[in-house]
Amino acid sequence: MTDAPTTTDPNAVAPAVDNLETIVSLSKRRGFVFPSSEIYGGINAVWDYGPLGVELKNNVKRAWWRAMVQEREDIVGLDAGILMHPQVWVTSGHVGSFSDPLVECGTCHRRYRLDELPGAEGLTASDLTDPTVIERFKLVCPNDAGPLSAPRRFNLMFQTYMGPVQDEASIVYFRPETAQGSYVNFKNVQQSTRKKIPFGIAQIGKSFRNEISPGNFVFRMREFEQMEMQYFVRPDGAPAAFEGWLPQRKAWYEQYGVSPERLRFREHAPDELAHYAKKAIDVEYRFPFGWKELEGVHNRGDFDLGSHAKASGENLEYFDPATEEHFIPWVVETAAGADRAAFTFLIDAYREEEVRGEKRVVLGFHPEMAPYKVAVLPLLKKRPEIVDICRRLRADLAKDLMAVYDDTAAIGKLYRRQDEIGTPWCVTVDVESLEDSAVTIRDRDSMAQERVPLEGVKQLILDRLAASRA
Ligand code: GAP
Repeated sequence: MTDAPTTTDPNAVAPAVDNLETIVSLSKRRGFVFPSSEIYGGINAVWDYGPLGVELKNNVKRAWWRAMVQEREDIVGLDAGILMHPQVWVTSGHVGSFSDPLVECGTCHRRYRLDELPGAEGLTASDLTDPTVIERFKLVCPNDAGPLSAPRRFNLMFQTYMGPVQDEASIVYFRPETAQGSYVNFKNVQQSTRKKIPFGIAQIGKSFRNEISPGNFVFRMREFEQMEMQYFVRPDGAPAAFEGWLPQRKAWYEQYGVSPERLRFREHAPDELAHYAKKAIDVEYRFPFGWKELEGVHNRGDFDLGSHAKASGENLEYFDPATEEHFIPWVVETAAGADRAAFTFLIDAYREEEVRGEKRVVLGFHPEMAPYKVAVLPLLKKRPEIVDICRRLRADLAKDLMAVYDDTAAIGKLYRRQDEIGTPWCVTVDVESLEDSAVTIRDRDSMAQERVPLEGVKQLILDRLAASRA
């Protein structure tokens, strides 16, 4: 759906990285993100996570699950199917309303999302549906300055056929949001867990949208992963729940290292609200390409449960034993993207420094987000006793955390490589280690080195990791 337009001067707050290309090339070079199907020329708006990227994204999802399920008494998890009964998407309003304004050039026939055209920055949500908008704003094709068609709505859902017969009756949709799985399972979850309102259902999973103009690397993709939580409340409890979740969700990004000055809230104007929302406020991040939505907090009222109850004939009311009332719960949703969050942590962690006249690139990840927590490095790879200690230490560390061994360069270069991928600690085994059973731990950020007993290394790193979380 439409990402919110920028409402204030985007340059008032500087991005962590000026040029997105810096992040794209680091991602490719070091194995965070690769273009999908690259040997065939790639496929637009699908990206593959490499060895480091998959660790980063798993860390993002784990941290979200910890905050939203593990540490909460009032929220439980769910993993619903990507394919659902097609009626779900009719009832949810997605078949009718989940669309973006598309325009086409009369000469080169390229297609664009209206609100992404140069000159369309100030368009309101009403302008986006106005058939005269192209003339009024004198918009032309950015490719060849050709005439553009009036906007038409383009539905973003991917569809396929279920079963061996490909006809209208066998159409199913790839879900465009995880939320509907939580609504249609509301009763199952509530009854099986005996949760009392207010309580939430959290899900992490793939969603699919046939975006008209995907781009900005993994910011807007056609296949992506969401981390969504639906909080079911009494109708009169929705405003307070909404106000409660908003700061918590912003604080989550800050807890894991995103600079507070590059985060802000932006409320959706009434004519900009999604078809299900009574109120929506985005947590926005200052990306290199402007302030953009990172996560949305939505008051969805009783739109979803009410519509599903009506369309399915199932009674989705909740009985409140305290007040002896029956009612359809209202929903406050926190809707985040795992890819967009990982992208944000990656951008915000990037820094370049000068150390003794040389450039040092560092990903200053929060330790919980770092793909590798520790690297074990031999000072001399030709000494089998040193390598042997390294290998045994790595194997022991790897029982509890992601640890890597590397001996493919001199120690200075090995440190720089680990800095560039954000490894918080390096452990070096040297000749003296053979005598004193001690090793050197180097801190990524301060570059300080300390000598510690070999047998205490693992506990030290586990303690530091735990401390970073507290
Ligand atoms: N259930 C509500 C919902 O889906 P949304 O604002 O459309 O709300 C929630 O999406 C989050 O999902 C966004 O804030 C963003 O982080 C992520 N997201 C949405 N579309 C995306 C896309 N095409 N590529 C990557 N992430 C996307």
